[in-house]
Formats: sequence, structure tokens, C-alpha cells
Amino acid sequence: MADWGGDRTRRDVLKGAVAVGGAAALSACLEETGDEPVPAGPEDLSSLPARQHAWNGRVRTDDHGNTLLPRHQVLLYLTLPDGGSPSAEDRETVESALRTLDRAYERSSEGLLHSIAYSPRYFDRFDGDLPASVDLPEPRALSPFESPAFDRQDALVHLASDRADVVLAAEEALRGNESTANGRAMDASLTDVFEVADRRSGFVGAGMPAERQDGLDGIPESNPVPEASPLFMGFIAGFRQNQATEDHVTLSTGPFAGGTTKHVSNLRMRLDDWYGEQSFEDRVAEMFSPVHADEGLVEGVGENLGDDSGVTPEIVDGIDAHARRFGRVGHAQKAARANREADGTVRTLRRHFESTDDGEAGLHFPSLQRGITTFEEVREAMNGTDLTDEPTIRQRVNNGILEYIFVKRRGNFLVPPRALRALPTPTGETPGL
Ligand code: HEM
Repeated sequence: MADWGGDRTRRDVLKGAVAVGGAAALSACLEETGDEPVPAGPEDLSSLPARQHAWNGRVRTDDHGNTLLPRHQVLLYLTLPDGGSPSAEDRETVESALRTLDRAYERSSEGLLHSIAYSPRYFDRFDGDLPASVDLPEPRALSPFESPAFDRQDALVHLASDRADVVLAAEEALRGNESTANGRAMDASLTDVFEVADRRSGFVGAGMPAERQDGLDGIPESNPVPEASPLFMGFIAGFRQNQATEDHVTLSTGPFAGGTTKHVSNLRMRLDDWYGEQSFEDRVAEMFSPVHADEGLVEGVGENLGDDSGVTPEIVDGIDAHARRFGRVGHAQKAARANREADGTVRTLRRHFESTDDGEAGLHFPSLQRGITTFEEVREAMNGTDLTDEPTIRQRVNNGILEYIFVKRRGNFLVPPRALRALPTPTGETPGL
């Protein structure tokens, strides 16, 4: 538990609170923000979107219309202690806890965004199979150079807010440690049904990585992460034109229509050479493409790019020629090869955020897409194994950002539509509700 005493400033308290979690972190946070009201949610829940993953219309955007994800985020991995099928009472408990959150907090960055998703292993307990419309394999290693642990817990709750006290209070309420959430009585908590198997936390937004970099494993001692960067690696990600729309990642048929699939990986970063050996141009080349570096397309953290990373079809198609000419290829350029439908539509909606879990610079990488296979294809393209015919390009060197990122965990989940969020069967029913 962190020491909240001494002369910690408000900034320090808020900085560490979500990573630490728990009652002490919450009360320290509330001392700082307690008198600032949090907007409540609606009484009539029919005004909420049918999709749990409908976040884009409820978060801040920048001047270019790019969505800015909530600054504080928590992932709670949950297991059902009993092997059997959930009962009607279990479903009522889960629905009640989530419904109270819906009413307690406005569904927005100023209030709370949340979702619950279920793993293939969760669905295995039932007699029937998931329908063909749901592409949800067990997680597996997605590159020849990784050996991740697999997240096979039953469920994953994702909490996100611009306010640290809100994610912490919602978490404490779901865990049964607080009897109210934003002044609203919790009639049930998720821990009446689930056990919390793991808790992970993170943040995203300009300034947040820089103010957390000091002394962190994976960050060089010179503390090079720019103040303006939302991510440890020094650039903006998630430009509007390079993200799938929520419509595109949403299942359109079958019993889970209105839902989506979510792959969540957890990576650690080692940025000594990223910042120590590489110039700014080198970093631009490896993050975006060598053309971006050659033509000076990126300034600072990349705000000048507007709403598009500048990875054009020509840059994607020219990757082999760039490998020969520049001796390296870019991360975005590589991934984009598999991230477009035939008509050019972007396939994945990435919602990654940074982390200091385990005292190291890390990243939680939720990606939404219509089927998990899509994510696997995009990751394979990012591996760039096919590009290593060129002698200067090795599996992890001069090959985008692979030299600096290490996959620790992977998990696959189905995010059902809101109507089916409480312990659904594989055929899309919630008996007893
Ligand atoms: C530390 C880790 C990572 C950082 C800092 C990072 C950063 C970036 C940046 C700056 C871009 C270009 C801007 C944009 O389009 O958003 C990008 C694009 C992209 N990245 Fe990453 N990324 C990371 C890891 C990953 C991982 C693990 C994947 C998994 C497949 C991935 C998939 C993609 C995809 C699909 C694109 C868009 C390419 C396109 O279709 O235009 N990234 N990333």
C-alpha cells in the first residue's frame, strides 16, 4: 500500500491512486476531489446505447475529431468460483450491480464508461456452442517470438473515467467494499457472484506518461518521454481515419448482434534504445514509416497529422521497396497491411492505454473488431516476419517497434450487447432475467 502521508501534492495522490487501488487510494483521492460533483446517469436506462462498447460519442475529442479515451482505466478479471451454469439469481445480481452503476454515473468521460465481456472458457461451461456468427477462439501466441500467459478468466470488467475517484469508487462498489456509488445504494455487488482474479490499471493522455516516468522500469534515466505525449513512446495514436467505426466492429447478425469481440494484450516496454540510440527521425520511421521520416511529416508528438496518420495506400503497398531503400519499415505501415477491408474500410478499433503495473512501463491493449481472427491477422502483419528476407530487417530489429515491446499476456472476450450483459448463455439468452 502506498504511503499517502507526508507532503504529497494533489498531483502525486491522483497520479498513484488508480494504480494502487483500494479503500485508502479512494479516500485519498476523495480528499482531493470530493467536493466536485460527478454527473449522475439516467433513471430510465432505455436512453442508454444498446451497445456496451458505444464509447466514442461519450468521450472528449481533440480539435481534429480524434477521440480521447478516458484518462483513468481499470481492468478487473473475474472468475466464477463454481464450475456450473450461473443461476437466475446470479444473473439478477450481476444485472443489479451494473444497473446501479448506470444510474449512478453519467455514461461519459466525466462520469463512467464501463463494459463487461466474457471469455471462451466462460461459454464452455454450457451445453450449447457459440453460434458461427461469434468468432471467439481461445487466446494463443500471435508471434513466433512471444510466449504470453493466457487470460482465461471468465469475465472482464473495464472501467474508464477522466476522474480517478470515479473509477476507484465504481470498483469498490462492484467489489462490495462500498455500499454506495455516487450516492446511490448498491443492492448487489459483482463479488456476490464472481471472485476477482486479477486487477490491472492504466492511464492515457497528454502529460500522464511523462509525470509517471521517473524511476520506472523500461524508461531510461534521462526521463525522455515528452510532456505532450499521451503514450510512453512519444507519439499520438488512434487517429480517426485509422480507426474502425463502432458500427464496423459491431456484430450485425446472430444472437449477439449489437456486441463485439475484444482482444486484450498486455505488453511491457523497454525504451532505453528507443530514446537512447535513435534520433527523432529514426523513431518516426519505425513508428509510422520511413517515408514519414524522409518527408518530415511528423512534428513533435504528431498532432500536426490531424485526423489521419498519413499511412497512405502507397505507403502500405511500397513496404518492400522501403525495406530495400531505407533498411527499415514502420509499425503503422506494417499493421495497416491487414487492417483494411477490400474497400479500404479500417477493421480494428484500438483502445489502448498505458500502465505502470508491476513498476514497469507497460501497455494494456484492448482492440475491438467483429471477430478475433481479424485481430490475429493484423498482429501477424505487424510481426513483419515476411519482411526479413531483406538482410537489414530482422525479426525484431528495424522492424517497426518490435525491438521495444514484449507481450506478456493475451485474452479474448465477447462484449455482448447491454441487454445480454448478465451471464449470457452461448445462444444469447439470460434465463431468469
Ligand atoms: C507500445 C505499443 C504501441 C504503440 C506506442 C503504438 C503506436 C501506434 C501509432 C503511433 C500508430 C500510428 C497512428 C495510428 O494510426 O494510430 C499505430 C498504428 C497502428 N497500430 Fe500501434 N502501437 C503499439 C502497439 C500496437 C499493437 C500491439 C498492435 C496490435 C496489432 C498495434 C496495431 C496498430 C494498428 C492496426 C495501427 C493502424 C495501422 C493502420 O491501419 O493505419 N499497435 N500504432
